[in-house]
Amino acid sequence: MKERILGKTGRAVSEIGLGTWQLGTRWGDPFNKEEAWKILEAAEEAGITFIDTADVYNGGRSEETIGEYIAAHPGKFYVATKCGRRLKPHSAELYTPEAIAGFVEDSLTRLRLERLDLLLLHCPPSSVFARDDIFAELDRQKRLGKIADYGVSIEKVSEGLQAMEYDISALEVVFNMFRLKPLDELLPRAAEKNVGLIARVPLASGLLTGRYTADTVFGPKDHRSYNREGASFDKGETFSGVPYELGLEAVEALKQLFGTEQLAPIAIRWVLMHPQISVVIPGASRAAQLRDNVRAAQLPPLSEEQMQAVGRIYDQYLRQSIHPQW
Ligand SMILES: NC(=O)c1ccc[n+]([C@@H]2O[C@H](COP(=O)([O-])OP(=O)(O)OC[C@H]3O[C@@H](n4cnc5c(N)ncnc54)[C@H](OP(=O)(O)O)[C@@H]3O)[C@@H](O)[C@H]2O)c1
Repeated sequence: MKERILGKTGRAVSEIGLGTWQLGTRWGDPFNKEEAWKILEAAEEAGITFIDTADVYNGGRSEETIGEYIAAHPGKFYVATKCGRRLKPHSAELYTPEAIAGFVEDSLTRLRLERLDLLLLHCPPSSVFARDDIFAELDRQKRLGKIADYGVSIEKVSEGLQAMEYDISALEVVFNMFRLKPLDELLPRAAEKNVGLIARVPLASGLLTGRYTADTVFGPKDHRSYNREGASFDKGETFSGVPYELGLEAVEALKQLFGTEQLAPIAIRWVLMHPQISVVIPGASRAAQLRDNVRAAQLPPLSEEQMQAVGRIYDQYLRQSIHPQW
């Protein structure tokens, strides 16, 4: 597994990391600690050293399980976690320095750490990206030694450009073959400012694996059933904001282009073709998926013709609906 430097953190991390929103659960299924543990073992075996989590994932069980695992396997993983989404309602007014300080303590407890490697604001309301008091608190937490570095997770490119006015070390963004807008301004700006980029939702919630059809059924507690129109959170997190049937058509075009039904490793390789990306974080609800996804690390680079053809598929099917929204 190759490594890349995560921006101003200066830390070398595996170029493929692990997303843990669905760790030990297939979004809505009961938590299965044994499966969660197998996924973390498979990640370690595959040479993954970067884990992305958040305080809200599975009500804290994602962080807790990672905490237990890293206590038993010290020094194996760099862990990025996120905070803010515990605020109810999730409004800008409730973002206060005190709230941030409390979230830091809670994540330290669940992860069993004395210092967080990286703390990201978890897609807060847009106005928070311009809040001096919040970024001053993150600086203070750094001075206290409670966090080594901080950054933001964003929905819209405009939020990332705003956040980079502060001294953030890393930024997490949806970036995949169905979400090309970050190429225009965000990737160049991050490179210029040495902000590490974490590419999330690289498989468009599984759509880009090429394994879904019009008949695929998602459980009622799975966001791919209930959040397609953004009923619970930004719809850009669900299938990357792509209308499902349109996404299936675009996936067919990608299968023709690459001459295979098995798109997951190619979709991840596509993300890694961009040197501004420090780490790509596919999620896996089973260890077998993780093993499938890390095959991307062994694939040869995509050709210039293939990269351009992906751009044309995006232009044909998605640009008009996706580009203006995020
Ligand atoms: N706001 C934020 O900051 C935010 C938002 C979203 C995600 N994230 C982070 O980014 C990570 C990745 O995003 P994501 O998990 O939403 O989307 P993703 O990585 O695009 O898709 C993950 C899903 O794709 C399916 N999958 C993965 N590998 C597969 C394979 N090889 N074969 C078949 N299916 C496969 C699985 O679906 P099934 O479970 O149905 O099998 C899995 O749950 C998350 O885990 C989380 O850490 C952060």
